[in-house]
Amino acid sequence: MEKPINVGVVGAGYWGPNLVRNFRALPDCRLRIVCDLNQERLRHLHSLYPEVAGDTQFENLLGDANLDAMVIATSVRHHFPMARASLMAGKHTLIEKPMAASSSECAELIAIAKQRGLVLMVGHTFLYSAPIRKIKEIVDNGEIGDLRYISARRLNLGLFQKDINVAWDLAPHDISIILHIVGELPYSINCRGGAHLTKGIEDVTSMHLQFSRERTAVIQSSWHDPRKVREMTIVGSKRMIVYDDIAPQEKIKIFDVRVERPPHYDTFAEFHYAYHYGDIYSPYIKQDEPLKAECQHFLDCIRHGRIPLTSGESGLQVVRILEASSESIEQNGAPIDLPDARQATGTNSHPPMPHRKPAEIKVKAGKKR
Ligand SMILES: NC(=O)c1ccc[n+]([C@@H]2O[C@H](COP(=O)([O-])OP(=O)(O)OC[C@H]3O[C@@H](n4cnc5c(N)ncnc54)[C@H](O)[C@@H]3O)[C@@H](O)[C@H]2O)c1
Repeated sequence: MEKPINVGVVGAGYWGPNLVRNFRALPDCRLRIVCDLNQERLRHLHSLYPEVAGDTQFENLLGDANLDAMVIATSVRHHFPMARASLMAGKHTLIEKPMAASSSECAELIAIAKQRGLVLMVGHTFLYSAPIRKIKEIVDNGEIGDLRYISARRLNLGLFQKDINVAWDLAPHDISIILHIVGELPYSINCRGGAHLTKGIEDVTSMHLQFSRERTAVIQSSWHDPRKVREMTIVGSKRMIVYDDIAPQEKIKIFDVRVERPPHYDTFAEFHYAYHYGDIYSPYIKQDEPLKAECQHFLDCIRHGRIPLTSGESGLQVVRILEASSESIEQNGAPIDLPDARQATGTNSHPPMPHRKPAEIKVKAGKKR
């Protein structure tokens, strides 16, 4: 029997325990250690999983020759130094979103991982979720016609962060989903926001992404809303999809509705838009925990030397958009171009995202080394 992959998780705050639970349950993995500065958190996890070691010193994990892979679930400012140290110590590394605090940090991590032949993955969890996989399939097979625009709303009350604004906290999910669906980078980004509680830290933002062929996306993010909302609308020329991640069932609804211009008319008086109202249907979606699929994908990529679906490169693209959004906020919502997008074509149309064929996502656990 092949050896399990030995994994350590750093950060056992709000999100880390979910990673611990999932890695621990995967059969081809041995979750060996959890690291957190906070002894209370370690004690709590020890009470749940007595066989998993705890440590307050990250350096001890770096020096552990038996640890194959590291998962970093600390706050964003720690991502770069910890991921860098992890890669330098020869560990395959999964970093939570957003990948790092700047695109130059992301680029450095990508270069180190490449140089050392290590898997570098980012926790863009939604790309492993069944509804997003279904939406991608529906859009790619042309069921909604030509993609026109996407709007995303991710709202709730809190959790207010002190070092990053709400766009850096919540929008990475929407940006990663939108880039995955559109399949290219936006050439221009603008964003406005309001910092109502902490000066300089926006708790409400509205981001606008402009893609080639008049396709647009709008992302509204808020820690300052009475209701938890996780919604996305994908509008095509033939049909429209509404995705409600909070809905217990029927998370995706496909609306057979569209509006068309009449093909020809003689006078302006004869001109009428043609509205089509058809059925609404909801495809069956098997409910799997996306994080389980993400954790399994990380292990599969390590075992088979594959590039993850949510690779370091895709983490970098998301951070570039977040950086542009912050720059735009500073400039009162002015549009910020992604420079290489325009250089590549000399026009507003944009080349596809740098894309190496990613590994297949295997939802089912149980692959052996
Ligand atoms: N993929 C997702 O859906 C998802 C969801 C929530 C959060 N996240 C991400 O997970 C990461 C962690 O978020 P969180 O909400 O759990 O944060 P958190 O503040 O609740 O937890 C971070 C933990 O890291 C520990 N820590 C800090 N410095 C450390 C060090 N030097 N050594 C060891 N431990 C240290 C802290 O003590 C804390 O317990 C963030 O990047 C966040 O964006 C991802």
